[in-house]
Order: sequence, then C-alpha cells, then structure tokens
Amino acid sequence: MAKEIILSGIQPTGKLHIGNYLGALKNFVDLQSQHECYFFIADYHSITENYDPKIKQQQVLELAADYLAAGLDPKKCTIFVQSHIPEHLELAWIFNCVTPIAYLERMTQYKDKAARQKENINMGLFDYPVLQAADILIYHATAVPVGQDQDQHVELTRQIARFFNNRFGQTFSEPKTLHTPAPKIMSLLSPDKKMAKSLGDNHCIYLDDEPEVIKQKIAKAVTDMGDGKGLGAQNLLDLVKIFSPTDVYSRFINDSKKGNLKYSELKQKLAASITDYFADFRSKKKKITEKEVKKVLDQGAKKAQKVALATMAEVRTKIGIR
Ligand code: TRP
Repeated sequence: MAKEIILSGIQPTGKLHIGNYLGALKNFVDLQSQHECYFFIADYHSITENYDPKIKQQQVLELAADYLAAGLDPKKCTIFVQSHIPEHLELAWIFNCVTPIAYLERMTQYKDKAARQKENINMGLFDYPVLQAADILIYHATAVPVGQDQDQHVELTRQIARFFNNRFGQTFSEPKTLHTPAPKIMSLLSPDKKMAKSLGDNHCIYLDDEPEVIKQKIAKAVTDMGDGKGLGAQNLLDLVKIFSPTDVYSRFINDSKKGNLKYSELKQKLAASITDYFADFRSKKKKITEKEVKKVLDQGAKKAQKVALATMAEVRTKIGIR
C-alpha cells in the first residue's frame, strides 16, 4: 500500500475490551510505522449520548493511556483530543451548509441511537456524521480505518467532499475506507451478541483486567445456550485461535470434532493466553503517569492544529468568509 494519510478516532466512553482492541487499536498500531497517521479521541462525538460530565475528563485520559500502552508511539503518529482542535467544529458548521438533511436522515447509526435514547434525540446526534466528515477532511486523510458499522459515515464524508468541491472549487480529495481485519468477538455470557460494555462487565474482557479477573470471567463464559447452535463454544474456540499458539488451537479443534472437547481445560488455557497477550499492555499502562499522557496530548494537538489551521485558511477564503 502506498503511503497514506490515515485518520481514525475512538469515543471516550469507558474501558476498552478485547473486541475494541482487535477491531481498532491493534490496527492503528500496525499502521503507524508505514503511514502518516492521526489517531484522536472523539470527545465531542461522545457528548451526543447520555453521559456524566464528572467522569468525562478521566475517560479521555484513560483512552489516551490505552493508546500509549497498546503501542501507539507519539514519535510515529499524531495523538490528540478532538476538542483541543476547535477547527473541527468550525469546519463541521461549514459542511452543515452543503449537506442535505435528507442524507443525514438515512444514517442507520443515527436511527439506532435515536431509538435507544428517545428522551435525548439531540441535534448533535443527528449531526454526528458531519462532524466526523470534518475530523477526516480537515487533515486531508486519504484512508480511514474503521469497522463496517462506520462505512456509511465514510461514504457520507466522500459525498460532503464532493458537495464542497462542486460549490467552492477543488479542495478535498475523497478518502477511502480501510477495512482492517477485525474478528467478530461475541459476549462471554450472551454469545449471540457482539461483545459490548453495555451488556455488562462480565460479558467483556477489558484490556486492563487483572489475570484473576480474566480467569473468573472466562470460567463463567457460556459454552452452550441450549439452542443447539454452540455459539458459546465457537466464540471460545475463535478466541483460542487469536490468542493461543496454533498447536493448542488445532488440538482443541480436533477434540471438538471428536466430540470430547474439555471446556474446563480450554477455558484455563484461554485465560492464560489472554493474560500473557496483554501482560505488556498492563504493565505499560500502570507505569504511564497522567503528566506523561497530558504532555503527549499537548504535543499532538500542536502538530494537528498546524494542519487544521492551514485547511481552515483555505476553506474560509474559498467560501468568502475571512
Ligand atoms: N464514529 C466513530 C466510531 O464511533 C468515531 C469517530 C469519530 C471516527 N470521528 C471519526 C472514526 C473519524 C474515524 C474517523 O467508531
């Protein structure tokens, strides 16, 4: 792949679980050595849903610490907080003025979220994809690594780039979606649903879970929901495939084919493998201080803002506002 300008973000809404890691963060770490990368914390997006302002700052710093502990290196990529660069909002407003409402009404994530929080269907929730377009286009990103649930938003970003260019002259190029490999990790207790924090802590393995907690959660994992589909067992085997050595995986697969898979043994091995896999993460995260995190974010904001300001100078001139 030729050198790209890569941008992606995660909302600071609490601890990351292994599904988030495999779906996003792990790919970010792989991309940072080959491309010009921007990885940010989407705090302005996160306030479109119900939240507690008292813990938001902590969630931002925690996520930044997760980025660093997972291996994002501020020497290789730009790490920053969305709200530190107010130009994102300025560009989002301008994009609002070229985006037809009908395009936003089609967004499936908006419809899902609106159905989930009927008492708080706010303008921000509706406008969320336009801010996302601004996040991406303000850095002239060429590729956006996201899960499939974000495809519609990146497609809208391309349309917004086109609307803007048609009206005001060529300014933005259209970014592509980067589908990085992302195995689908299911909940430990409801293996017919995707692993999600909203289901409850025992459904998820968090990146900073201690070995004892990992062991307990996996011990309680459902192997058979009684529907004859064996989704629980399948999920555990999938996890073994990702986190354990290949020979361990093939042995369990053979046992499973022969019908004599011992779940207690599989669970023990899996807990040990996950514990090892994130040992480095846990120890790095414990060592990182708040001061270090803030310093990284300050430096990241300075780098990002230079680019954002240059884009805004061009955009303001083009739209006739100075
Ligand atoms: N909407 C993304 C998500 O929930 C987060 C996000 C905000 C994002 N802005 C972005 C991702 C820009 C990629 C690019 O996962």
